[in-house]
Amino acid sequence: MGVCFGGPSVEHDVSIISAEQLMAALSERHQPVPIYLGRDGRFWTGDALRSVGAFAADPPDGAEPVELRLGRADGSGFVQPSTSRLRGDHFLRLDAVICAVHGTGGEDGALLGALEHTDLPYVGGGVGPAAAAMNKATAKAVFGAAGIEVNPDLAIGRGEYARDASGAIERVVETIGTPCFVKPVSLGSSIGVSRCGTADELADAFELGFEVDRTVLVEPALDEAIEINCAVLGRADSELRASACEQPVKAENSLLGFEEKYMSGAGKGRGAAGAGAKEAGMASQDRLIPAPIPDDLTAAIQDTARRAHRALGFSGVVRYDFLVVDPEGTPRVVLNEANTVPGSFSFYLFEPIGLGFVDLADALIEIALAEGAERRATTRTFESILLETYTSGQGPKK
Ligand SMILES: Nc1ncnc2c1ncn2[C@@H]1O[C@H](COP(=O)(O)OP(=O)(O)O)[C@@H](O)[C@H]1O
Ligand SMILES: [Mg+2]
Repeated sequence: MGVCFGGPSVEHDVSIISAEQLMAALSERHQPVPIYLGRDGRFWTGDALRSVGAFAADPPDGAEPVELRLGRADGSGFVQPSTSRLRGDHFLRLDAVICAVHGTGGEDGALLGALEHTDLPYVGGGVGPAAAAMNKATAKAVFGAAGIEVNPDLAIGRGEYARDASGAIERVVETIGTPCFVKPVSLGSSIGVSRCGTADELADAFELGFEVDRTVLVEPALDEAIEINCAVLGRADSELRASACEQPVKAENSLLGFEEKYMSGAGKGRGAAGAGAKEAGMASQDRLIPAPIPDDLTAAIQDTARRAHRALGFSGVVRYDFLVVDPEGTPRVVLNEANTVPGSFSFYLFEPIGLGFVDLADALIEIALAEGAERRATTRTFESILLETYTSGQGPKK
């Protein structure tokens, strides 16, 4: 079982921790094979990569180079090139690959597309749903069309802003107003996200946003809302399991930033995965599980998360992050975003519903294999007489 992690995104380190935790859980029943995607785009493998300590160096200590060769139709795309004339290349035999690359290059469907070109079943997709979820504007369009409430937004492109910054800011003030949130359309972990209390703050917020993305979204700030997350496991067209709900705890009036998410309890996440892994990384964030909200609200959020999963057409595990306005009164459940490679695969949200990490990992593999079989069973090539007709001088018929 290949576990792909790392990647070029700002969430590179977070991905290492998610993957180490997953490999520890997998090793009870499977043989996890680490496949580390370096920041520079090179792939590495080797048992040494099963310990977080290896990543103090770049490339990691004990890492062996591996390549992903496209176009092999037998699921053996990952190859360790031979270093000797006497030995041939070594093909990694993988039943499936679990994508634990957060953010750009992994969560956006790019890596999944490459895996499809090697006929390797994978966890985390398909390509379309992953790409749709990664782009917050596209995701909101999908969810909105399914009748799920999302926050309205205005998208501003880098080019448009460069041509007429004050015009863009004026449009924001007219259509969205302040306070508002300015965020890169396709990043994560709160990177490049700003809250603007007044219009004077917009220029700095755009500058920051455009440093990390070419499109920036502006949304009204739902300052009174609480954040509630709920993960869903399953294939879009079969039975779906919704997890317990969590409420991340944030400091008063501050958006939940990268530091708050991953740096609290700093140092804990640096230890070896396995024993104590629960306290590491993502799970070190302060959170309340189950979220202290009324039962019927929990049920409504779980139901909305399942509907979102179906609307997205996703197969695997996704964490849906909500902003809930007036949770104790007449709640409005607003879907903020979908994370298709959620930190630590959201195992800590499934444990309270009786699904341990080992069972979650098994379920993910089952989904990957079922999806792979489904892809193979789908006819995608058709005999065509076009070339025949073309070469016989008749030309294509219009
Ligand atoms: N419209 C909003 N109203 C209130 N808070 C928001 C809004 N949008 C984002 N936030 C806050 O900012 C954080 C990061 O924004 P989010 O959309 O989740 O981006 P990311 O993909 O970086 O996690 C959220 O967890 C929340 O605390
Ligand atoms: Mg978020």
